[in-house]
Amino acid sequence: MYIRRNGLLPLTLALCSTCVQADDVAKAVDYRHGLMHVYAYNVTSMSDMVKGETAFDPAAFARYAEDLAAATWLDLLAGFPEDSINDESDAGDTIWLDWDKFQKKYEALKAQSAKLRKVAAGGDEAAMKEQFGKTAKTCKGCHDDFKN
Ligand code: HEC
Repeated sequence: MYIRRNGLLPLTLALCSTCVQADDVAKAVDYRHGLMHVYAYNVTSMSDMVKGETAFDPAAFARYAEDLAAATWLDLLAGFPEDSINDESDAGDTIWLDWDKFQKKYEALKAQSAKLRKVAAGGDEAAMKEQFGKTAKTCKGCHDDFKN
């Protein structure tokens, strides 16, 4: 920690002793963006197949479902320490006012992704498409409430 020669903490640091430091916020924002990008890569790859923009390939779909489910088990909540918002962030400040609800939205993503992984391993195209829709809804379900 930087301490001035006169032994006093810089004023800004002293004032901010109870808030999350800017470095920690930047790290958290990077981490959660990283997770979101991994989600998005897998979800868009599946949605291209569901929409018929790329050929439906059940084996490839199952791999994307597998990776999405695996990614949702990395602790997303660790990327949201209290009040961690900076200029790079679109997180809504209501996350920390309604943490239980935010957590439930994350649980929904995990549960639906785990189901998608299972259904996709079964190879039934119609069931895969249906469960994909339910899974993608959990992304929107959280963004609608908690992303600006
Ligand atoms: C529990 C809530 C929650 C769930 C579930 C969720 N997201 Fe997010 N997502 C957020 C929040 C909050 C942000 C804004 C984070 C920020 O900018 O600090 C975000 C941002 C993003 C971004 C933008 C990242 C960036 O670099 O700006 C993408 C892409 C994204 N989410 C994709 C997804 C996909 C795909 C899913 C579903 C598989 C998903 N998210 C599920 C809360 C969620």
